[in-house]
Amino acid sequence: MTDHLTVVNHPLVQHKLTLMRDKKTSTNSFRQLLREISLLLAYEITRELEMTTRTIQTPLCEMEAPILEGKKLALVSILRAGNGLLDGVLELIPAARVGFVGLYRDPETLQPVEYYCKLPANLDERLTIVVDPMLATGNSSVAAIDLIKAKGAKNIRFLCLLAAPEGVARMREAHPDVPIVTASLDEKLDDHAYIVPGLGDAGDRMFGTK
Ligand code: URA
Repeated sequence: MTDHLTVVNHPLVQHKLTLMRDKKTSTNSFRQLLREISLLLAYEITRELEMTTRTIQTPLCEMEAPILEGKKLALVSILRAGNGLLDGVLELIPAARVGFVGLYRDPETLQPVEYYCKLPANLDERLTIVVDPMLATGNSSVAAIDLIKAKGAKNIRFLCLLAAPEGVARMREAHPDVPIVTASLDEKLDDHAYIVPGLGDAGDRMFGTK
């Protein structure tokens, strides 16, 4: 994957995203749409996985059949909204190893602080896909990727539903080697760091909290 930012303009992705943005969409439908859209985004982010072949017997003959090469992938969810994207991606790549990173924003310094980190072993040998639906300021994504790199990961991709130009720029500056796949590059951030037009608070909308 060579582009730093890929926006998935597929009609099904864009249709589902519109339904998710609509504030009248229920929590239940929001979660269902997120699961569906994450399958489609996972398809895109895994497009260039390395392949090898294996000799198999079909009912008719022997063939050299294509198969994924290398160690199983790692998926890392940034808590808590990342878990909504994780479910669909894991459905498509069920053998992936899964890690979690939890960060909160220190109210005084406004910097992300780690409160939970559990990652798969041998990250240096795996493609690691980090999932978080909203790339807003980019602070938590950059901090999570700092952590993941410190644990050895070298080949990382970032999957989100919506990205703000501010977050993309921050990621490009801090982690130019990490390609981003998203369903939309939105207009901007508002004064409270919400993505505009966005879809509101992704965690609240998927879990029905306020
Ligand atoms: N996180 C969200 O859930 N929504 C935004 O708009 C920005 C960050």
